[in-house]
Amino acid sequence: MKKKYIIANWKMELTPQQAQQLAQDFAQVTKKNTWAEDRQVIICPSFTDIIPIVALLSHSQIEIGAQDVFWSDYGAYTGSISASSLRHLGCTYVIVGHSERRKYQHETDREIGQKIAAVLQAGLVPILCIGETFAERQGGGKEAALMKQLTEALSDIHLTDKDNILVAYEPVWVIGSGQAVNPQDANQTHQLIRRTLGEFWPTSIVNKIGIIYGGSVNHLNIKDFMYQPNIDGVLVGGASLSVDKFWPIINY
Ligand code: PGA
Repeated sequence: MKKKYIIANWKMELTPQQAQQLAQDFAQVTKKNTWAEDRQVIICPSFTDIIPIVALLSHSQIEIGAQDVFWSDYGAYTGSISASSLRHLGCTYVIVGHSERRKYQHETDREIGQKIAAVLQAGLVPILCIGETFAERQGGGKEAALMKQLTEALSDIHLTDKDNILVAYEPVWVIGSGQAVNPQDANQTHQLIRRTLGEFWPTSIVNKIGIIYGGSVNHLNIKDFMYQPNIDGVLVGGASLSVDKFWPIINY
């Protein structure tokens, strides 16, 4: 059974108290309710909230992810956090190359590729974010932008049958805008992404990769995305910040 991924990206939106309260709220709700077996729910809090949130959700089926990682596992890299540290803290997933990091931390596709290698090496699952800007889309450069991001980050990555990786297609210009792209449009883009992945890895591996959509997903549009054949899940920012908004997304 192929999993459907419902991933919450809490960004830097919450204080430690708010993040723990929200995790507690999810722990309560998951005690009393379940969701369809094919759903994998993942919450990605700030680094500083990982330890208490892993503890608060340890009895639930929710997995924990980090929002970034460093590409080396050890050494004189002040302020950086390694993939093996994240694994020891209880993370199983790591978001890599989110457009906000590309924009504000000037992350390059090459660095993002190195981070993916580090995450896989530590036995975790990278969630690679790619997406075109509005200017790229308007100028007819959407496909080229996506291909470049995929090729530079992934073409040197050797995946085995045991590895797992997710690709999140997030059109940069709709993130946080309240206006998602047309789900059919996203579905077609996901097809193109899977075709491109087929240039790097064998079909048996590529067919198992989850390609998820992100950008203004909410309880009103979730069904339209999840019923598309090539959309394997969603990465949710704003609408993951309360149980009231996120629970209907999990239970679309
Ligand atoms: P949004 O964010 O759901 O608030 O648009 C998505 C993301 O940045 O991953």
